[in-house]
Amino acid sequence: MQDMLWWKRGTVYQIYPRSFQDSNDDGIGDLAGIRERLPYLTWLGVDAIWISPFYPSPMADFGYDVADYCGVDPMFGSLSDFDALLADAHEAGLKVILDFVPNHTSDRHPWFAESRSDRASPKRDWYIWKDPAPGGGPPNNWISNFGGSAWQFDEITGQYYYHAFLKEQPDLNWRNPDVRAAMMDVLRFWLERGVDGFRVDVIWHLIKDAGFRDNPVNPGWSENDPEIGRLVQAYSADQPEVHEIIAEMRAVLEEYDERVLIGEIYLPLERLVAYYGEDLSGAHLPFNFQLLETAWHARQIDGMIREYEAALPQGGWPNWVLGNHDRQRIAGRVGTEQARVAAMLLLTLRGTATLYYGDEIGMQNVPIPPDRVQDPWEKNEPGLGFNRDAYRTPMQWDASEGAGFTTAEPWLPIDMREPERNVADERQDEGSMLCLYRRLLDLRRTRPALAVGAYRPVEAEGDVLAYCREEGTERLLVALNLGAEPAALSLPPEARGGRIVLSVLGNREAESVGEVLSLQGNEAVLLEFSA
Ligand code: NOJ
Repeated sequence: MQDMLWWKRGTVYQIYPRSFQDSNDDGIGDLAGIRERLPYLTWLGVDAIWISPFYPSPMADFGYDVADYCGVDPMFGSLSDFDALLADAHEAGLKVILDFVPNHTSDRHPWFAESRSDRASPKRDWYIWKDPAPGGGPPNNWISNFGGSAWQFDEITGQYYYHAFLKEQPDLNWRNPDVRAAMMDVLRFWLERGVDGFRVDVIWHLIKDAGFRDNPVNPGWSENDPEIGRLVQAYSADQPEVHEIIAEMRAVLEEYDERVLIGEIYLPLERLVAYYGEDLSGAHLPFNFQLLETAWHARQIDGMIREYEAALPQGGWPNWVLGNHDRQRIAGRVGTEQARVAAMLLLTLRGTATLYYGDEIGMQNVPIPPDRVQDPWEKNEPGLGFNRDAYRTPMQWDASEGAGFTTAEPWLPIDMREPERNVADERQDEGSMLCLYRRLLDLRRTRPALAVGAYRPVEAEGDVLAYCREEGTERLLVALNLGAEPAALSLPPEARGGRIVLSVLGNREAESVGEVLSLQGNEAVLLEFSA
């Protein structure tokens, strides 16, 4: 198993730095805070941390608007704080993955200031500038992901610039070789410092249609959906030329040992797998968000896993994501009981698992009072149910007033609805979600079949989802009840007489099972059987 690359056998833990640990009592998390909490992460048993952006930024989109790619925002600390964090993480055996945001900069980035100053500026073509449409108005019908036109008229030079997200996030022109070279140097800057890889923000957006054709109307859109869905993003993203750029990024990583390139991609399966690139020259891990999107039903998830496994290119390594800072908390979406089943699913599927901070203690979507809304998307398109603040609230470390996160007023409210839902209390309780995650992470590290073994689907019915994981002589069967009612799985002949390794409800360890495995409502079981 040790022969497998770390990012294949390992588990990635996403940290949203504003909300993980505040070390200087300003109500906002920081790098020194993450460093303080490294012992927790090694105790938990994850292998890598991915830290959402901490670069200098006006924070219009909370760091996804970068004003300097090679620095640290004072709010989060300094470059030397970063170096200290990286050194300690490595010392503790943890890899560190950064968030690279290449599609757009902040409008305060010096490149943009120069670009917008003059049509003749050498940086003019670093961004996407267009004249108004012939009859006036924006150059085409493209919509911003946060609502409204994706074009902003700039009085200074009388042209529009394109922004796939906020107007404070102008898109870079990746067709310009100078942009490409500058951004490859950004990767090298961090690789030289020793980072272990990158999660690349909206990687499928980098190249737009050369002719800037109008996007077609989406007949499936309804008024209660975000405005971005009104059009099909046929020309504004996922263009064939993007793969050359990803291969270029990948080649930069190949100049160093064992670094990982992860791409953020929300696309249907057949488009997603193209991001492994020709001859696997693309992202090592095109993020697979299907667990965030597929309805929580056993048959749907079963079909989805099989299709994903079948669609992977030869040699392409799978991966699974259960939560992130843009999507509802898993415990909010499927309920606390099913969140335990989801933990078993995430950590027993074949492929690298990414988990989102706080999901391991069962953090919920947190109601945000209107006067405390921070998310710019919610501000632009209020009330649609997409306030991302709800999934970005401070980590609950203990039951104290600031939850062990801060002694100041936290930037977002702390969830006080279940006071015992915190790391300190859950560490003491063997039946907690946290101890379940720790046990699963331990099994994943010690059981080659889970970490790197083959996946084989097992026929099941109703609410039950089942599959085997096998490596050498180690053979495991995973059975998950995605319903609240008891259910049963008729075991395949080879698994009969197997022994239970773990039930997410506890108390069944070492139980041996005959022909039928019975499952309580919301139970998931890991069973070992011999060859
Ligand atoms: C994807 C990020 O995950 C999200 O949080 C951000 O708002 C957009 N990209 C824009 O950078």
